Amino acid sequence: MNAYSLQLKERILSRDARISVIGQGYIGLPVALLLANSGFKVIGYDLNPGIVEELSKGRTRMERERGLRELLLKNLGSNYFPTGDRSELMGSDIIIIAVPTPRKNGSADLSMVLQAIDLSKSAISRGGLVIVESTLPPKAFEGIVLRKIREAGFRLGEDIFASYCPERAMPGNLLEELIRNYRIIGAADNGSAELSKMLYSSFVEGDIEVTDPLTAEIAKLVENSYRDVNIAFANEVARICEALGVDVRRVREIVNKHPWVNMLVPGIGVGGSCLTKDPLFLYWISREHGYSPELIGLARSINESMTQRYADLVDEFVRSKRPDGKGRVCVLGVTYKGDVPDARESPAGYLIGELIRRGHEVRVYDPLVRESFGAPFFDKLEEAVEGADAIVIASDHSEFRKVSLKMLRDIAGEDPVLLLDGRLILESSEVESSGFVYASVGNLLSLWKITGGALLEKSLILNEIIS
Ligand SMILES: NC(=O)c1ccc[n+]([C@@H]2O[C@H](COP(=O)([O-])OP(=O)(O)OC[C@H]3O[C@@H](n4cnc5c(N)ncnc54)[C@H](O)[C@@H]3O)[C@@H](O)[C@H]2O)c1
Repeated sequence: MNAYSLQLKERILSRDARISVIGQGYIGLPVALLLANSGFKVIGYDLNPGIVEELSKGRTRMERERGLRELLLKNLGSNYFPTGDRSELMGSDIIIIAVPTPRKNGSADLSMVLQAIDLSKSAISRGGLVIVESTLPPKAFEGIVLRKIREAGFRLGEDIFASYCPERAMPGNLLEELIRNYRIIGAADNGSAELSKMLYSSFVEGDIEVTDPLTAEIAKLVENSYRDVNIAFANEVARICEALGVDVRRVREIVNKHPWVNMLVPGIGVGGSCLTKDPLFLYWISREHGYSPELIGLARSINESMTQRYADLVDEFVRSKRPDGKGRVCVLGVTYKGDVPDARESPAGYLIGELIRRGHEVRVYDPLVRESFGAPFFDKLEEAVEGADAIVIASDHSEFRKVSLKMLRDIAGEDPVLLLDGRLILESSEVESSGFVYASVGNLLSLWKITGGALLEKSLILNEIIS
């Protein structure tokens, strides 16, 4: 370790290091608060004045994130200081970047990371540590982040330290996951690796895996690609079951008794800000380097096709019932995951848009978020369901598992009313005995009975999902 790194090491151990976190969203805010809670003085910087104002008043947009508000109130003004004033970052010993990196036309939009790097170059103290937590495509840390730092006249591993420490925590349980999950540190030199590890050790209880930046970039993307591919497999089995006329739940129940099989639950679509883009980052960069990862690409298209399929199915059902082809559809749940207050990239958004585009009246209810993707939002489930020709369960919230189906049927429209279980949370026999036409992802048996199998032909065309 050189003099700079020894100095920073001392400042981390004594909690005197001044830390700034750029971006106070789902990731940046909890990370800033965990560091503040470990005893550091932390500046939480965000471009969005609304976010800064709310944080300054002790409020967060992630109201349902367990323990977050309490942590904010505990540290606000003592160890945690939200700001929109970039001059307050000057002289930082450590800067953590947690700004969005959305996908954009076949590549990653790194413009916000680049802005944050430019700010960091002027704000970091000589001998300081810059950490990127934003998701990066492979080679971006070396090719963009480190290159920019070097171009600013810094010598990596000597008078500046830098690492890529991707975030993999899940909204809904962010604090717990940030503390307990294992963490990846990608660093190009020993000083950066050691300082980063020391910093995260202040609150991380899981293992800390140190590796080079490229391996870290790929590992982060492989984790989500693995999940996406496994979900796609479950979705494909669901489509096979629909085509052949069996219930995928029963198939899954049986196959999962095998010690080497763990088939996931199929569903109406895959969402979330990371799961929908990480496999694509890996796919695109790999293609640029000469290998086209077919399985990852195919998994993405299978998962994306699911929402379209069930939008078609609901549309067809309503059109066959209504003389003018337009009806009322109630969508229950808009978040991409059950009991998680995050609707980003949620399949419900696509579903709602598609149904509105086809002329249906769509009504939305979600107990956790007020997002409704352009449809009217109802505060009460009963009001959203009123007069519905079809009800779609798009998120597996606990509330929907316990709902009285009899009550729902009484409120919904005239017979027949379709209840499409997009998350496999209800028992088909109970749904049917309540008076609904039941359908779920991977089980269209009852629907066929009333449509005379008209949908069968369509579902047999398995190629439509992979073309
Ligand atoms: N949310 C997750 O579940 C999750 C999980 C793992 C990784 N990630 C990754 O973490 C990164 C951040 O995601 P997020 O979910 O926290 O995003 P977010 O949208 O919740 O928050 C990002 C914040 O950054 C602010 N911002 C944007 N540009 C800025 C700039 N130049 N200077 C200051 N502030 C700026 C925005 O105003 C916003 O408040 C992304 O790369 C994402 O892929 C997110």
